[in-house]
Amino acid sequence: MDLASQIYKRKSCRKYLDDEIDMTPIHEFMSNVKPLISEICYSYKVLTKDEVSIKTMWSAPYYLAIYSEKKENYGLNVGFIFQQLSLYMQSLNIGSCWVGMGSVKKKNPEFVILISFGKSNDLKRDISGFKRKSLSKISDAEDEKLKAAQLAPSAINLQPWYFKHTEEGYDVFKVKHNIVKRKIVGKWNDIDIGIALAHLYVSNKDTFQFEFKNKSDIKGYAYIGSLKI
Ligand SMILES: Cc1cc2nc3c(=O)[nH]c(=O)nc-3n(C[C@H](O)[C@H](O)[C@H](O)COP(=O)(O)O)c2cc1C
Repeated sequence: MDLASQIYKRKSCRKYLDDEIDMTPIHEFMSNVKPLISEICYSYKVLTKDEVSIKTMWSAPYYLAIYSEKKENYGLNVGFIFQQLSLYMQSLNIGSCWVGMGSVKKKNPEFVILISFGKSNDLKRDISGFKRKSLSKISDAEDEKLKAAQLAPSAINLQPWYFKHTEEGYDVFKVKHNIVKRKIVGKWNDIDIGIALAHLYVSNKDTFQFEFKNKSDIKGYAYIGSLKI
């Protein structure tokens, strides 16, 4: 299964067909997915559009409701795990989109975020269709290996990540927002970073390692963790 190649053609899907989907491959994939932080319990449910309340102008036949223990860095873990699933679904011609602007009707304190999904005829693009910051804006090293992270999706396409090279790999940082922006997108930024790490993981499966070290912030960015790719 080549998930890495999906990174270069995927896009957020907002136009769905009503076709039914066999969920078996999805559940099978999830039983083998790699977490970033194995100590955090999480779960998911497949819901229909009647079971969610969404503020988007479009809707999908299915929604994945994601739940997690709210331990430190749970957002990173959620982004990391479920972006692998999103890439897998893309490989099955199932389109998906992270949906921050929505919730489950059946309230649950562990609810984190939704992902819409469904069959679609509009789920691919070529590389020129990506609107992303340049590598030099997201890193101090113009390393082609970072391209997978550069192309990662993020809430409102903010791309809140920065990669600073180290002897072993990279330290990853998250942009510090002012209080207004933090209120709007703050809770999604950890998920965004987890998504970018998932892209680096699927592209460097045998070498990827991630750990939290005790390092300082840099100007405008908060230290998140250190990786080898
Ligand atoms: C955490 C998160 C939340 C998002 N929330 C929404 C949303 O509520 N509505 C929407 O239309 N797109 C949403 N998106 C999709 C982003 O707008 C999209 O990923 C970004 O603009 C980049 O475009 P691309 O995914 O097509 O590459 C979200 C993405 C992420 C990662």
